[in-house]
Amino acid sequence: MHPSERRVQRIVERCLRGLSVEQKVGQMVQAEIANATPTEVAEFALGSILNGGGSFPGGNKQASVDDWRALADAYHGAVRKSTHSDHPVPILWGTDAVHGHSNVYGATVFPHNIGLGAARDGDLMEAIAVATAREVAATGIDWTFAPTLAVARDDRWGRTYESFAEHPDVVVEYASRIVAGLQGVAGEPDFLGPGRILATGKHFLGEGHTTDGRDQGDVVCSEDTLRDLHAGGHRAAIAAGVQTVMAAFNSWHGTKVHGHRYLLTDVLKGALGFDGFVVSDWDGFLQVAEDRAEACGSSVNAGVDLLMVGVEWRAAYHDLLQQVSAGAVPMARIDDAVRRILRVKARAGLVSCARSSARPATVEESVVGEPSHRELARRAVRRSLVLLKNDGVLPLKRDAKVLVAGDGADNIGKQCGGWTLTWQGTGNDNSDFPNGMSLFDGFVEATAHHGGSAILSPNGEFGGDSPDVAVVVFGEEPYAEGDGDRDHLSYSTLHAEPLAILRRLQERGIPTVSVFLTGRPMWVNPELNASDAFVVAWLPGTEGGGVADVLFRGPNGKLDHDFHGRLSFSWPRHAMHTPLNVGDTDYAPLFPYGYGLRYGDAIDRPGRLDETDSARGMPARDRPCTMGSTYPR
Ligand code: BGC
Ligand code: BGC
Repeated sequence: MHPSERRVQRIVERCLRGLSVEQKVGQMVQAEIANATPTEVAEFALGSILNGGGSFPGGNKQASVDDWRALADAYHGAVRKSTHSDHPVPILWGTDAVHGHSNVYGATVFPHNIGLGAARDGDLMEAIAVATAREVAATGIDWTFAPTLAVARDDRWGRTYESFAEHPDVVVEYASRIVAGLQGVAGEPDFLGPGRILATGKHFLGEGHTTDGRDQGDVVCSEDTLRDLHAGGHRAAIAAGVQTVMAAFNSWHGTKVHGHRYLLTDVLKGALGFDGFVVSDWDGFLQVAEDRAEACGSSVNAGVDLLMVGVEWRAAYHDLLQQVSAGAVPMARIDDAVRRILRVKARAGLVSCARSSARPATVEESVVGEPSHRELARRAVRRSLVLLKNDGVLPLKRDAKVLVAGDGADNIGKQCGGWTLTWQGTGNDNSDFPNGMSLFDGFVEATAHHGGSAILSPNGEFGGDSPDVAVVVFGEEPYAEGDGDRDHLSYSTLHAEPLAILRRLQERGIPTVSVFLTGRPMWVNPELNASDAFVVAWLPGTEGGGVADVLFRGPNGKLDHDFHGRLSFSWPRHAMHTPLNVGDTDYAPLFPYGYGLRYGDAIDRPGRLDETDSARGMPARDRPCTMGSTYPR
C-alpha cells in the first residue's frame, strides 16, 4: 500500500519539478492554526501546520474530536482545491502529543517521560506509542513532536520531566520502541499506515546539558560528551526510521544549534545518515542572528528544512524568499530541503502528485480516551511509582479509614503537569478531563464496598474519630520549558504547607504516607522525616487510579500489585546537590540511580535525615560543578 523507496524517489522528483520557487519556500514554512486559515495555507502552499500548546480548533479547550477532524478536513480540503497550483502538495499537521494526545479534551494522558523512565519497560513504551498514534490519527493529525530524547543532567532544568533518564541507556532503549510504535516498523507493510503517525526525535542536540540547567542555554562540553551522553537516543531513533528531527533551542559553545551547520548537516544528515527533514523549534531560527531575514537564511543554510513559526509566518516566508533571490541561500539547499519534506510526505502516502490525492483513512473517533488506552495508562502509572521509604505502613488494607489530604489529592490538572491542554498545564480543573480519574477517585474505588472509607481533606483536618492512616498528596505546580527552571531543588522552601500537614498528622499519632507529584527529584528530607512511607508518583497523567492499585492490598488481602519503578534520576542529598548523575566521581546521592523499594524488602527505617536547607541564603548559581572527570572545564 505504501510506496516503495524507488517510487518515493520518482514521486518526489516529479513533484519537485512542478513547484515554483515560491511554492518551494512555502513548503518550508509551518504555521500555527490560530494564525493561518485554510485558505491562506493553500494560497501560500505552506508545507505544514501545527497546534501549539493551548491552541485548539475555534480556540475552544473542550473542542470535540469532531471539531479537530473538521478543522483538519478544512485545511486538507482547501489545499486540495487550491487554484494556485496544478499539483497541490498535501500538508502535514504536527502536534505535541508528548504524553498521549495531551492537547485534546477527553484524550488519554499518560505519565510524563520521567515516570516512564522509572518503569524501565520497553514493551510498555511501544504500547503507549501505538495508543498515542491511534488517538492522534483519530483527530486527523499526522505527526507528533515526540519523543523527547533529552538526557537531563541538571534537575533544575524545567524540562527534566520530559527526559526519560539522566543516563543514556534508558533513552536509547526507549527511542527505538517509541518510534516503532508511533510510525510502525520501517520496511513493514503498516509503516505509516492507518493509525500510525510521524514521529520527531527532539531536540537535537545536547539540551539536557546546559549550564546550570537553564532552558535554551549554552552547552559547554566536549564533542565526545555530546556524542556519548546525548546523541544515543537520536542514533537509535534514526535507526528505527524516525522521519523528522527537531533542532534544539540550546547553543553549543555559544553557537545556537539552529545555526550550527556542523551539527545539523555534517553530523545529523551526514554521519548519522538522517534522510528525513529537520524542523526548527518554535521560532528557533530567529535566534541565530539579529536581522530576521539573515537569521532565516543562516538557519536554513545550517540545515533546518522546515521553519516552525509561532505567529509571523508571512514574514518568515518573505524573508526566506528574499534570501533566495539575494543568493544568500542557494537553490540547491532549497531543493534539498523540499526534497526531504516531500520524501517524508510520500513515505506517509500523502503525495502522489495526482490531482486529488486522497488521504489515508484515519482511525475511528471513539479511540480517543477509549477504555483499553486508559487501562494501559493506569498500568503505566502502577509501573512508574517509586517507593523511597516504607516503615511498614504500606500496603494499606481496603477496610481502612483513610484520610486523603494535600492539594494534589483531587487535582487531575496537577497530576498531569505541563503540556496538558494548555502549554504550561495551568488553568485546568477536573472538569477538563471527562475521562480522567484523580488519585482520590482511586482511593474511593479501593475502599468503597470493602468496609473502608476514603475521606478527602485537602488541609488534612478532620473531625470525629481519627483515621487509620493519612495519605498526603502534594508536589510541584504544573510548568513547561523555561518557566520550570529553578535555582535549587528544595521543595519546602517553595511549598511549606504539605510539611505542616504531615507534621500535624504525625503529632496526632496518625501514620502518614506521602505521595509526591513531581517533574524532577527534589530535596524533601523534612517531608521524608515526617512520613512513614514515601512514594514518588512523578506526573502520572489522567489515570490516577493506578496509585491506589499499588498502595492497597487486593480485595482478598493479597498483594495484587507490587512496586516496580526504579529511579532513573539520582536523588539529591541537599538542595544544591545538582548536577548529580550516576557515574560522577564522588557520587553520593541520597537515593542512587536504580533505587526503588519493593514490598518484600526489609522494612526500611532510616535514621533522621539532615534538615538543613542549603538553598537558604546560598547564592543559587554560585556552586561547585560536580560533573566529574569526563567533562572539560
Ligand atoms: C518546544 C517544542 C515544541 C514546540 C511546539 C517549543 O517551544 O520547545 O518542544 O514541540 O514548542 O509546541
Ligand atoms: C506555545 C507553545 C510553544 C511556546 C514556545 C507557546 O505560546 O503555545 O506551543 O512551545 O509558546 O515559547
